[in-house]
Amino acid sequence: MILDAIKNRYSVRHYKDQPVEDDKLAEVLEAGRLAPSGCNTQPWKLVVVRDRAVIRSMVHAIGGQQFVGQARVLVVACKNGEGYNIGHQYDGAIIDITIALDHMTLQAASMDLGTCWLGNYDGDEIRALLDIPPENPVVAILALGYPDENHPQQPRPRKPLGELVCWEKFKG
Ligand SMILES: Cc1cc2nc3c(=O)[nH]c(=O)nc-3n(C[C@H](O)[C@H](O)[C@H](O)COP(=O)(O)O)c2cc1C
Repeated sequence: MILDAIKNRYSVRHYKDQPVEDDKLAEVLEAGRLAPSGCNTQPWKLVVVRDRAVIRSMVHAIGGQQFVGQARVLVVACKNGEGYNIGHQYDGAIIDITIALDHMTLQAASMDLGTCWLGNYDGDEIRALLDIPPENPVVAILALGYPDENHPQQPRPRKPLGELVCWEKFKG
């Protein structure tokens, strides 16, 4: 059930010292590959980092968040080309990439893997470390690994549905 994976997922900030199997990583990446995108543009490139030394060297660029160094995989999502022009207003690439990464977090959760979205990073520093060209901005990073059960976490609260949804017409 998708809802089970959604309910199981939380931001994992303590990872076990255990590698992620290649087949599981492949399934996580496949979940992203199959994600929808505006006009099927698929405007992303994922840099998958598994080298532990490189991961550790990226901690500084990712806001100095020390737990990132425990992750076994970092997925650095870069914009690659233009997305669909959403609502005739803006490039939808960021939406597309977000959907792909979210698919990946849920696939990971369904296999008892943990993820954490990372938005606190210095794009220029990441670019330099991973040879990412300037035309491929870093949109988000995902940490991936097995959660350390010694650090269980309560689900974070969410706004009630009534605050997030209105029916038929916008009501503030
Ligand atoms: C776009 C985005 C960027 C985020 N950046 C960070 C980050 O840099 N570091 C971090 O520890 N958590 C980060 N998070 C995780 C959020 O803090 C977390 O999703 C939120 O508090 C809800 O908690 P939950 O994921 O455990 O349900 C980010 C989440 C999103 C969606």
